Amino acid sequence: MNARLRPGDPARPDPGQDFLLRDMTASDLDAVMRIETAVYPFPWSRGNFADSLTPQYVARVLVDADGEVAGYFIAMPGVEEMHLLNVSLAPQAQQRGLSLLLLDSLLASCRDHGAQLLWLEVRPSNTRALHVYEQFGFYPIARRRDYYPSTDAQGRTCREDALVMSATVADLLRRRGLAAE
Ligand SMILES: CC(C)(COP(=O)(O)OP(=O)(O)OC[C@H]1O[C@@H](n2cnc3c(N)ncnc32)[C@H](O)[C@@H]1OP(=O)(O)O)[C@@H](O)C(=O)NCCC(=O)NCCS
Repeated sequence: MNARLRPGDPARPDPGQDFLLRDMTASDLDAVMRIETAVYPFPWSRGNFADSLTPQYVARVLVDADGEVAGYFIAMPGVEEMHLLNVSLAPQAQQRGLSLLLLDSLLASCRDHGAQLLWLEVRPSNTRALHVYEQFGFYPIARRRDYYPSTDAQGRTCREDALVMSATVADLLRRRGLAAE
């Protein structure tokens, strides 16, 4: 389903542009890969995204008024749960509250799939993402040792732990004012 959206917090300044969320298609992959390689030192491959364009995954893109892809998320529904695998905004689309549009769309997908629990992994060094998730209502539940590839201060390859964060869908819907009456 397509929907015209604006960031949800009326007290914050609006980025001044309408955005559309729609399902990701194969024709989005060039734009998605441009963003992915710009924002991650260890990006997903094009094949990872292509594999996500199946009914086993939820893959959505955030598109601006000019039709340009500004961000996306990929999630995997499970039994009464949803695993957020990737959420990203183009560098020029960051710091404008647009992550709320992506996370609200993810929440709507959770509701559609009957997911009761939403969870994700994040690098502890990714303080911006951590802040966004905490503000949204996620809380840390576990740590996975040496989960991500990384590089140390000398540029040597090493591993970084993942912080596992979770929240109930009911709680997030309530916090976002999206719960059914
Ligand atoms: C993680 C990511 C999606 C978060 O998006 P973001 O643009 O950085 O964060 P937001 O969209 O929530 O922006 C929030 C900031 O925008 C500002 N803002 C401006 N207008 C706003 C509005 N209308 N509503 C809310 N925030 C607004 C605020 O200053 C806010 O900062 P604050 O929470 O410190 O006050 C983004 O940083 C990203 O793509 N990073 C690279 C990929 C990545 O690391 N993904 C996560 C992997 S786990």
